Amino acid sequence: MIQRPRRNRKSASVRSLVRETQVGVNDLIFPLFLLEGSKKKIEVDSMPGIFRLSTDLLLKEIESCLALGIHAFDVFPVVGENYKDKTATKSFDANFFYQKSLALIKNTFPEITLMTDVALDPYSSDGHDGIVDENGVILNDATLEVLGKMALVQAEAGADVIGPSDMMDGRVEHIRRVLDAHGHEHVSIMSYTAKYASAFYGPFRDALDSAPKSGNKKTYQMDPANSSEALIEAELDEMEGADFLMVKPALAYLDIIKSLQQHSNLPITAYNVSGEYAMLKAAGEKGWLDYDKVMEETLLSIKRAGADIILTYHAKEMAQKLKNI
Ligand code: PBG
Repeated sequence: MIQRPRRNRKSASVRSLVRETQVGVNDLIFPLFLLEGSKKKIEVDSMPGIFRLSTDLLLKEIESCLALGIHAFDVFPVVGENYKDKTATKSFDANFFYQKSLALIKNTFPEITLMTDVALDPYSSDGHDGIVDENGVILNDATLEVLGKMALVQAEAGADVIGPSDMMDGRVEHIRRVLDAHGHEHVSIMSYTAKYASAFYGPFRDALDSAPKSGNKKTYQMDPANSSEALIEAELDEMEGADFLMVKPALAYLDIIKSLQQHSNLPITAYNVSGEYAMLKAAGEKGWLDYDKVMEETLLSIKRAGADIILTYHAKEMAQKLKNI
């Protein structure tokens, strides 16, 4: 035999020389769940190891992540039912606890990349990402107005990267215009470009208590059966001024990550979502899988598919692991 591929696998040293993909701490964004008040820490039942934290404890969490090298965070608010209404007015109220906490976080840690989510669902009494009319229709253009106002107060509070996650048409362009008109031309947009109508978001909706009160999200989030449509969304987001494109979820959509990476020169982010985290945790807790190993293999697969950046609940554990190597 002339060709023996096993020669390149013969030792840890040779394997590391020929290794094509690595996951580094600089690739990771850590999602955090913010609670109103102080000294509050509530674990998410379906996401063991992930906590909803009040601002004081969330600041401590960021500090401990910084010590591990994680420097990018996506903060989601847990909004009390009493604050929710049809047009998500708390989402653009600069005095609401979320926006005030964002400012505190950014003032405390100016060096971090602070990302925020732009969508109505955490603040909406309907639990939908857009405004719902009396017939149950999700209104696109009326929703854009709210998204623009929400992005603006978040930018004013100190957000570095705005993450529109609602899948309304034209949102990137609208948000870009609003931000620029108010002097926020340096605030980035990480568009949830190909966001699928997925059942893998279940644990996240538990964490935020944000599940739709009626119907589903299929008229705005993408059909899991489609891939060409992801390219249409990517082209539009690029034209509308997105700085990053995102695919979400990650694991059942590795082909979409690959195809966006091949078609766009923008950085590609993959959102390794709550249900994907929950699966590994559950199997690990039962002793059915080696959690540490499958976590690393999972993150590697997402990078190998073509993602530059991974939003993941595993970020802290992965950073810990990288530090111990
Ligand atoms: C809100 C939003 C969702 C997620 C991120 N932003 C839920 C949804 O669209 O229903 C899901 C994240 C996760 O599952 O980890 N628009």
